[in-house]
Amino acid sequence: MSESFSSVILAAGEGKRLNMEVPKPLAPAAGLKLIDFPIRELKKFSKNLNLKDNISCVVGHKRELVEEHISQYENVNTVLQEKQIGTGDAVKSYFLGVKDAKDYDFTLITCADTPLIRESHFQKLFSCLKDTKADAVVATFKTTNPTGYGRIVIGDKGLKIIEEKDANTQQKTIKIVNSGLYIFKTSYILDHLDSLNTNNQSGELYLTDLFQQGRNVTSCEFEDDGSFLGVNNPDQLDKVNTILRKERAAQLQNDGVYFVESRHTYLDYDVEIGRGTTVYPNNFIQSGTKIGEKCILLPGSVIKNTIIGKQTTIKPYCILEDSRLGDNVTIGPFAHLRPDSIVKDECKIGNFVEIKKTRLDKGVKVSHLSYVGDAEIGEDSNIGCGFITCNYDGANKHKTTIGKGCFIGSDSQMIAPVKIGDEAYVASGSTINKDIPDGGFAIARERQVTKEGLAKKFLKKK
Ligand code: UD1
Ligand code: CA
Repeated sequence: MSESFSSVILAAGEGKRLNMEVPKPLAPAAGLKLIDFPIRELKKFSKNLNLKDNISCVVGHKRELVEEHISQYENVNTVLQEKQIGTGDAVKSYFLGVKDAKDYDFTLITCADTPLIRESHFQKLFSCLKDTKADAVVATFKTTNPTGYGRIVIGDKGLKIIEEKDANTQQKTIKIVNSGLYIFKTSYILDHLDSLNTNNQSGELYLTDLFQQGRNVTSCEFEDDGSFLGVNNPDQLDKVNTILRKERAAQLQNDGVYFVESRHTYLDYDVEIGRGTTVYPNNFIQSGTKIGEKCILLPGSVIKNTIIGKQTTIKPYCILEDSRLGDNVTIGPFAHLRPDSIVKDECKIGNFVEIKKTRLDKGVKVSHLSYVGDAEIGEDSNIGCGFITCNYDGANKHKTTIGKGCFIGSDSQMIAPVKIGDEAYVASGSTINKDIPDGGFAIARERQVTKEGLAKKFLKKK
């Protein structure tokens, strides 16, 4: 019979030392939130062991916000810790709140504030528990700076964990510390949970008190490679963010992405980039973005939640938000795609062009100085320089539709709602407020008057 397993993420604490508006589990971590990391890694872990995800997050401080965020995940539930009176109490709340918590053979416990712990750590720790046949195992590491961590005190009768606040001078010098990651036989927790007490400097129930000398508990030491860095203050949050971005860049480099200078590219952790793409410095590539193969991102763009096809070039200083670009598109420099823009294959968007909630079909060109909002433009139409959709009447937005193969002269405006057929032609400088049928030609500007010799009357002499 296969073993059953459940995981608990402690996420109820206030995170006072971090001093942020948002609760600590929702502190930003390379475009995601701190708590996303343990959730994602635990999901990988159970998938690899071929087990169902049984993940619970203990929430408390600003719980509504944390719960709302967690609701995006399947098979991850939350349980309330009424008062944040310690990690031991958080685990008690879990066993009280989750009906079948007692039924799993093993319980893994980790914290919401250690986002660099990976699935491989869970695996190693689980093997260690099995190999040693212990009732509980804590992941430890040896560090030159143990400040803030619980110390692993080893004596004749095994190990115990002493929190920094409770450690004596000699214990404070111990360099082997508690990472905050544990795996227990569930029955062991249940046997000892009620004996936890608040006789310590913080007056809290410590989960770490489950590790006492004379019991069948052990530790598994990991290399101090930074993986257990806990986020308790702003400096640690900053460090973790840098490490996460670097980690993602390294993964992408391995997959064949070329960063001209990776340390000057600001990558969110969930960004995907295809093989053969080149990324120049000072691009901010943010959460939800997927970029295809063999693209070129020249310096200085901000790309957020945008899907980009292959062989597309983003020239310098563009802003792309919540949009989609096809293959072989060229955009920029200085272009702005606002949300819900769809730019199909082979389009060309040039300097100082703003596009919003618009679909450009294959091969459309909007090369210079234009605003295109709430519009649809058909295949191969060419939009001249300085074109404007007048989409807003002061109260409502209206739609502009332009057909295939049109030529829209420079400096024209379309007062929406308006519909232009296929292969229509609009003369430069026209203000169009009536529909134009397929193949129609429209001109809407004053006729030119030229008077010979009159210029000298107007030219001012210096
Ligand atoms: C904890 C450990 C310490 C370890 C360190 C590793 C205890 C007593 N100490 O200390 O030995 O070296 O982690 O990073 O466990 N939480 C709750 N409810 C509470 C209190 C905390 O859910 O009542 C959650 C927090 O949201 C956090 C986690 O538990 O995610 C750890 O709490 P924190 O206060 O950060 O503990 P540390 O002081 O870091
Ligand atoms: Ca912590």
